[in-house]
Amino acid sequence: MRPVLKRNKDENRNGYKGKLLPELHPKEPAAEAYRLLRSNLRYMSVDNPPRSFLVTSAMPGEGKSLTAANLAISMALVGSKTLLLDGDLRIPSVHEVFGVDNRFGFTTKVLEGGSWANIVTKVEIENLDICTSGPLPPNPAELLGARRTHNALREASADYAQVIIDGPPVLGVSESLSLAKMVDGVILVVRAKKTSHIAAVEAKERLEQVGARILGVVLGDTDIKNSVYYGY
Ligand SMILES: Nc1ncnc2c1ncn2[C@@H]1O[C@H](COP(=O)(O)OP(=O)(O)OP(=O)(O)O)[C@@H](O)[C@H]1O
Ligand SMILES: [Mg+2]
Repeated sequence: MRPVLKRNKDENRNGYKGKLLPELHPKEPAAEAYRLLRSNLRYMSVDNPPRSFLVTSAMPGEGKSLTAANLAISMALVGSKTLLLDGDLRIPSVHEVFGVDNRFGFTTKVLEGGSWANIVTKVEIENLDICTSGPLPPNPAELLGARRTHNALREASADYAQVIIDGPPVLGVSESLSLAKMVDGVILVVRAKKTSHIAAVEAKERLEQVGARILGVVLGDTDIKNSVYYGY
């Protein structure tokens, strides 16, 4: 296991500071919404609950990374061994969300093999490991569509109770569609003041065309500041 990385903690966290679950007051609507999302996912299918999730959205900047991080934290906080994995190999964010460096990560695991335990970073939340993107490849679509990636994700599901992938957007690039086929379900983030209705519907249709199972939609940035609502 790599050591806990604490450097860069605040200087590198850009827009995420103060928005992660442990920093939110438990009674804040956003904190309650993440807990509700977690428990809805857990009880969605009692005998066979989904364990691997892709968090995506139609367009860039809609809150995928923030949602993926908070969903992963909410699962870890109830004792579920959880991996948050950065699957955005163009503009990765997991290292920024947690203020850690990104010299190795998901691409290292896929290209060089080895165990997840040697790649992940422990953060200060019990039961949560994170895996940053690693060095960005010239061909993210090819890499994420590869059999080795699929195998790596299968291994992650064996090592962790829950795997959350912070994905790229659906429209414009193909990687989320590849990843969607490798997970148990997809969480689609829609940002109320940003996402156009047409883009959201188009993203949903493209995901369904590849056979993805959309488990829920997270509506963020509604009029209540910082809130996230769950529904389907
Ligand atoms: N519901 C929300 N309320 C307030 N701020 C939000 C919300 N969702 C996201 N943000 C802020 O918007 C910015 C972009 O969010 P984030 O990085 O999570 O989006 P993204 O969809 O992952 O973007 P990208 O496509 O670039 O990966 C961040 O600064 C984040 O803190
Ligand atoms: Mg992101």
